[in-house]
Amino acid sequence: MDEKTLIQLDGLKQYFPLAKTGLGRKRRFLRAVDGVSLQIKQGETFGLVGESGCGKSTLGKSILQLYKRMGGEVWYYPETGERIALSKQSKKQMRALRKDLQIVFQDPYSSLNPRMTVGQIIGEGVTAHGLYKPHSKALQSYVLEVMQKCGLDEYALHRYPHEFSGGQRQRVCIARALAVKPKFVVCDECVSALDVSIQAQIINLLSHLKEKENLTYLFISHDLSVVRHIADTIAVMYLGKIVEIGKGERVFKNPLHPYTMALIRSVPTLAQNKNSKRIYLPPTTALQDNESVGCPFAKRCFMAKDVCFSKPVELWEGEKGHYASCHFVDMPKKQKEAQIDGERE
Ligand SMILES: Nc1ncnc2c1ncn2[C@@H]1O[C@H](COP(=O)(O)OP(=O)(O)OP(=O)(O)O)[C@@H](O)[C@H]1O
Ligand SMILES: [Mg+2]
Repeated sequence: MDEKTLIQLDGLKQYFPLAKTGLGRKRRFLRAVDGVSLQIKQGETFGLVGESGCGKSTLGKSILQLYKRMGGEVWYYPETGERIALSKQSKKQMRALRKDLQIVFQDPYSSLNPRMTVGQIIGEGVTAHGLYKPHSKALQSYVLEVMQKCGLDEYALHRYPHEFSGGQRQRVCIARALAVKPKFVVCDECVSALDVSIQAQIINLLSHLKEKENLTYLFISHDLSVVRHIADTIAVMYLGKIVEIGKGERVFKNPLHPYTMALIRSVPTLAQNKNSKRIYLPPTTALQDNESVGCPFAKRCFMAKDVCFSKPVELWEGEKGHYASCHFVDMPKKQKEAQIDGERE
């Protein structure tokens, strides 16, 4: 695999203001993305996992500058060899860059305009970016070609989104994103709403298109078994921060962060040992943990010691190219497992 960086995040932050509580109180923020730095390599599928509300979609949208930026930078390295700071682009420049940087939104129901036919939806970006002239024959045959690649029948061309099933709509969203010949696509939970057989079809489609069109994906999902199947690199997100990052196989074989261990054990088919006990994570008030001094996961962690509540964590290298933000990153896996299993005896 080509190891050239395509997208780089430097301390990306996206905070949302919360209602003020009490007179004269300082405004508080929900830190949905809290200083994320990572690199996405050309040609890879970068999996982003984490529980609901941890900030995955916000991260995906912030990369594509769909929010007013609050902090950090997103660098895009196109084939021309330039280094583009996305936040510094004017609206016009960003519009042109959107051809390269696409997103398939989490919700295929609300992200399609109900008043446009599938043909118009797929063709809209194509004409906006000047790939084909509006209403031309060439445009129609190109749209049909894209539809065919994405597994949509020709008859869909003149139909409206409400006439389709969830799986078909998801294909329309994918076709819309891919029609403009992008380089990088954020796939936000793009199979989570579908049943297993359709999931497999869409994933195969994405893998096939990736090979053919030399695409790079940021694949967001809370479903670890799907991510394991598709991702080359995996990042685990917890309360706006990346808590573990490494090559997919390593993260699954040797999870370094207790949160990752808990996530993996929560999926029966992924737990290596069928008798592995599930790790119970006590419920949390996200906001408080988000603002804690020590490790944000400490209150829920089965391994937590005093140091976890008082000393900040950062991403440490536990094995080559595999990082986790845990004070016990170097503790052997067996010892960690003994703690889980011991605790439950
Ligand atoms: N536009 C917004 N305004 C205010 N708060 C927001 C906004 N968008 C998201 N949030 C908050 O930011 C946090 C992260 O949301 P986000 O949608 O990124 O989570 P997620 O990891 O994608 O969750 P899910 O797996 O359920 O899709 C949540 O607490 C959410 O309530
Ligand atoms: Mg989401």
